[in-house]
Amino acid sequence: MTSAPPPLGLGLVGCGGFGTYVLDAVAGLPGLRPVAVADPDPARARALGDRHGLPSVTSLTHLLERPDVAAVALASPPATHAAMAVQALRAGRHVFCEKPLATTAEDARAVAAEAARAGRALVVDHVLRYNPLLRALELIMAQGLLAPPRRFLFENDAADEGLGPGHWFWDPEHSGGIFVEHGVHFFDAARALIGSEPLSVRATAVRRPGGPVDMVSADVLHPGGVLASHLHSFTHAHRAERQLMRLDHGFAETRISGWIPVRAEISAWADEADARRWEQLPSRAAAVLHVDGFLPHGEERITVTVDRDAGGRAPARGRGEERVVPHRVRAVLDLGGEARKPYVCTQSVRAAVADLVRVAREGGTPVADAVAGLTAVAVAEAATLAAATGTEQPVPAPGGPLRTPVPHL
Ligand SMILES: NC(=O)c1ccc[n+]([C@@H]2O[C@H](COP(=O)([O-])OP(=O)(O)OC[C@H]3O[C@@H](n4cnc5c(N)ncnc54)[C@H](O)[C@@H]3O)[C@@H](O)[C@H]2O)c1
Repeated sequence: MTSAPPPLGLGLVGCGGFGTYVLDAVAGLPGLRPVAVADPDPARARALGDRHGLPSVTSLTHLLERPDVAAVALASPPATHAAMAVQALRAGRHVFCEKPLATTAEDARAVAAEAARAGRALVVDHVLRYNPLLRALELIMAQGLLAPPRRFLFENDAADEGLGPGHWFWDPEHSGGIFVEHGVHFFDAARALIGSEPLSVRATAVRRPGGPVDMVSADVLHPGGVLASHLHSFTHAHRAERQLMRLDHGFAETRISGWIPVRAEISAWADEADARRWEQLPSRAAAVLHVDGFLPHGEERITVTVDRDAGGRAPARGRGEERVVPHRVRAVLDLGGEARKPYVCTQSVRAAVADLVRVAREGGTPVADAVAGLTAVAVAEAATLAAATGTEQPVPAPGGPLRTPVPHL
């Protein structure tokens, strides 16, 4: 009988809002054991340590002195990530890095190079990559039921209610700016869903009167004329937050609302064979919505209705492509409604950390790996420069795998 390997000892750096969230999210995760926390503010470190019965120290250096720390989670402000990630990797530790991986592409490249050199696992906490809806869309596209998007749109009416004037978020020196601090999630999601490397960016930044830049937009061009448009506007009350992700698949459209997606609505034109495949999807919902490390709640559902012959049997044409697709399919992928948002967010973080544990133990490549982190920062940096100069900027190609590996069902 082989005994299970000992759990990976986790040390967390940055005991603020999200560090607290991450530590709560990974409680009970198989193969992982939080062992210590660190923050330059000793009171914060102690408070979080006490909450979990863990010792606290005041720096990463002190954390790395502990032999029981095999992996480090970085949840400090963005500008601190790269140097600490490199320090931890050089000390032989695996790294779970909050987004963004770094605030410059050069620093992100250095982290990615160090992760490769050290042969240690590195996961960037791009939570959307661990959301069952986005994972299901990748699967459905890989199975040919949806064409790859020719257009990606993300509109983000985000809240600034918790972001007072002195918050590090508004200071590009600490946050990297909105494209870097927040945009990376969606640059990375677009890359995975479109399935190609971004080529170039045009962008605009809007400053609030007498204040910081609080609204940015970027158009990211991918090969084959695929366009991804992103808008982030940190100008709303929490209750007035709205987000929409929209994918144009040509003969089909996907709409996902909310920054933590809990519901995707797909509307597609299909022939009889595909209509039948769509109709089989609900019976495979558990497999289609599966993400390793994400514990289903039990309220996840896929519903599909097909309106046969809704469009008639005549061929339909778009962009020169002619198809006979008489049936209208409506599919809803639902993770349990609005009330499940906090649950889905927690489970997505848990799944991202589970990915770190898997790769630390078995090797391989995590879903949100260093290349994903680097590419997202490279797009964000190009967008920031494009907005500042009013000129289109190229995105350097980092290479590496694009899509999340899909299981055979
Ligand atoms: N993945 C997500 O969905 C998500 C959501 C929210 C925040 N975040 C990220 O989490 C990170 C932290 O954000 P937050 O909202 O918790 O910020 P916060 O300001 O609440 O907490 C940051 C903590 O880091 C500590 N700190 C500052 N400098 C440090 C240093 N040099 N070394 C170690 N600790 C240091 C601070 O004392 C503070 O306790 C950011 O990178 C943010 O982008 C990610």
